[in-house]
Amino acid sequence: MFSQRIEGLRPSPIRSILAVIDRPGMVSFAGGLPATDALPRWSGDVEPEVLQYGPTEGEPRLRAAVAEHLRTLGVDAPADRVLILSGSQQGIDLAAKLVVDPGTPVAVESPTYLAALQVFRFYGARFVDLPASAPLTYLVPTFGNPTGACMSDTDRDEIAARVRADDTVLFEDDPYRDLVYEPGDRTPIVARMHGGSWIYQGSFSKTFAPGLRLGFLAASEDLFARLVMIKQATDLHTSRLSQHIVLDAISGPDWPDRLDRLADFYRDRRDTFDAALHRHLGDLATWETPKGGLFFWLTLDRRVDTRPLLDQAIARNVAFMPGEEFFPDGTGVGTMRLNFSHATGDDVDRGLSTLAELIREQR
Ligand SMILES: Cc1ncc(COP(=O)(O)O)c(C=O)c1O
Repeated sequence: MFSQRIEGLRPSPIRSILAVIDRPGMVSFAGGLPATDALPRWSGDVEPEVLQYGPTEGEPRLRAAVAEHLRTLGVDAPADRVLILSGSQQGIDLAAKLVVDPGTPVAVESPTYLAALQVFRFYGARFVDLPASAPLTYLVPTFGNPTGACMSDTDRDEIAARVRADDTVLFEDDPYRDLVYEPGDRTPIVARMHGGSWIYQGSFSKTFAPGLRLGFLAASEDLFARLVMIKQATDLHTSRLSQHIVLDAISGPDWPDRLDRLADFYRDRRDTFDAALHRHLGDLATWETPKGGLFFWLTLDRRVDTRPLLDQAIARNVAFMPGEEFFPDGTGVGTMRLNFSHATGDDVDRGLSTLAELIREQR
């Protein structure tokens, strides 16, 4: 009754956890949820035409605004090579549909974004660890999910040169770029390729409002028209209402200030979380303080599988993400991803002290 590709389909662990985090008293370090206090208010009024069908590529003014942003990053993408997405998660699906057949090798970092693994797996990808070469290389080089790490300049240059030399497709996923707490060079890899085949994508979920489901991609000429056709077959076009709300926000005079304020706000949360981590898990785990993004990545000092810990943690009203889920081959035992943007105040201490207790019990 079902297609063959359904056989390998598994629920995303993160979405299953999100289902319980609204429980009263639950402290969640699990999702990548922006802080509720950081979400915008909207009381807008729109022209009726915004509720009409629209172009697959997206609203022309929003595409132009994205192209201008990409120009400042050094990415070669005029507005007619910008595609507005129904969330950047959709870009992963479109890219997979474009490149992945059953058995196609896809090169990824290990660990990497688990919902990308879920999509690539769905189309039958075979994962290989970077720096191996593959028809498609998928990367989150800037404050990546789950590690929060920012790839060095040298590594970026090296990957750009290798993908060019191999004539394969580079897919750079970049939703955390603007959540930057210690600025450093983070010029996109695709801006260093000077040609070749590439897809670059960004999102308004972390800087504005994830519920609007709005992202964008730009791609090299050889890929762009095909990606548009795949999107046509997927959802015709992205919500025009969402596009108008975002366009209003990003073209207003306050947008650069909003990004600065957001970075200040999350930098504070990161620092508070870092101090609490030292208090509760200082003798149990190691981590690097992330220079951007929304996550701390912990390596426990003993190889304790954190997956069974999750059920016990949820029973005590604390949620987190077991790190093992982010490894394409299920390795990575003894790691965990903690989101620092959502929980606040005493909840952070309560949640981390519960996790520390559970880890001690396992040891
Ligand atoms: C690396 C990465 N890519 C893509 C997404 C999807 O984001 P959205 O669909 O909300 O734009 C996320 C969400 O957390 C992410 O971490």
